[in-house]
Amino acid sequence: MTEAAPRDVSGLAARKAALDLLAAALSRRAGLEDGLGAPALAALPPRDRAFARALAMATLRHLGPIDAALSARLRSPPPDQTLQALRLGVAQLFVLETPAHAAVGATVELAPKALRGLVNAVLRGLTREPPDLADPDRLAPDWLYARWRAAYGADDARAIAALIAEEPPTDLTLKPDAAPEGLAGERLPGGTFRTAMSGDVTGWPGFAEGRWWVQDASAAVPARALGVRPGETALDLCAAPGGKTLQLAAAGAQVTALDRSAARLRRVSENLARTGLAAEVVAAEAQAWPDSRSFEAVLLDSPCSATGTFRRHPDVLWVARPSDVPKLAQVQARLLEAAARRVKPGGRLVYCVCSLEPEEGEAQAAAFLTRAPAFRLDPIAPGEGGAPEASLRADGTLRILPHHRPGGTDGFYVARFRRGA
Ligand SMILES: C[S@@+](CC[C@H](N)C(=O)[O-])C[C@H]1O[C@@H](n2cnc3c(N)ncnc32)[C@H](O)[C@@H]1O
Repeated sequence: MTEAAPRDVSGLAARKAALDLLAAALSRRAGLEDGLGAPALAALPPRDRAFARALAMATLRHLGPIDAALSARLRSPPPDQTLQALRLGVAQLFVLETPAHAAVGATVELAPKALRGLVNAVLRGLTREPPDLADPDRLAPDWLYARWRAAYGADDARAIAALIAEEPPTDLTLKPDAAPEGLAGERLPGGTFRTAMSGDVTGWPGFAEGRWWVQDASAAVPARALGVRPGETALDLCAAPGGKTLQLAAAGAQVTALDRSAARLRRVSENLARTGLAAEVVAAEAQAWPDSRSFEAVLLDSPCSATGTFRRHPDVLWVARPSDVPKLAQVQARLLEAAARRVKPGGRLVYCVCSLEPEEGEAQAAAFLTRAPAFRLDPIAPGEGGAPEASLRADGTLRILPHHRPGGTDGFYVARFRRGA
């Protein structure tokens, strides 16, 4: 039996924009953020733009099971555009629950003419035997899932992976004197305000007045662990876009925010201006900064594989490669050396990464301690900085796993060191 694809093509522009978003994130590895700034997306009316974004995110959050369902019905991988269209089609059918005639019809329109029959047949076949898109054992790429099982055990790995399919809430850090007026949500330990709101944050009460900034509850822990006091000097060595710089400035420190990317530093300056906070902003390579100053408190939020941020950036799971981890581990070791050189005698250094990979966390801290005898680990106390209880390791460092907080949280590793006086 052949069923003609319906000609209902409403929402085609939004679906095309979703396809571009997927291609930017997966084929060009340009990151979802880049795709979200694309002119084709910006030109859409707000409702279509929201649909395009929701469709691309739903696809990325279920990409493992979607690809498993598709490969069971395809003899060989189709060309890139057709593959992306099929993925969007499956997400419409089984995640967004778009009526089948609209989902199939619009997906067929996205494919090249010669492959439309195939797309129609594959999607129609799936509507007869719906796939399970929520199976935690399929939500992460195999190689990463194997790593998480090896590092944390089967149960924790499954609990981490189950969160890939979940849309996360938005967490805000409030300025110390600000109240969450007009915002719906709840306070988490440590002070983060978790909202139940969605949509464009720039329109939320208090944004324009600079009363808060968006920052995941885990991402807020490292700057709190640095424990800066008013008037102390603090260096944020990889600062952009600036969430941790804002925390340090709000705590009253004299902050220097350094980053190698002038473009990303513009976000730091904008955030400082909006919140009325002050910091010195420096564009420089951390290892080659021609400045002789040292600081009482240094924060290194190092570049990393970012696998802990999959709740808001599910594309990171699919663009990361096994070879990235050892390469990034070398960068982290070099940056830790640079950070250590900037710590005054008796001062503190907090190292953190939003990665779930032990080579970028526990192994970095252990190697640093053997290379830098002037430093010792300064154990983080239970509950300090709002860290979940389950994240505290025996040595006083933090391994925050995404399921350690009800509703989810970003994965982070945090270690605090103190330099001998
Ligand atoms: C994980 S992000 C920092 C996020 C930031 N701390 C925050 O809370 O908003 C890592 C940053 O390190 C910067 N970076 C990477 N290599 C660097 C280097 N060698 N020197 C200085 N900054 C670097 C990147 O430009 C990027 O902005």
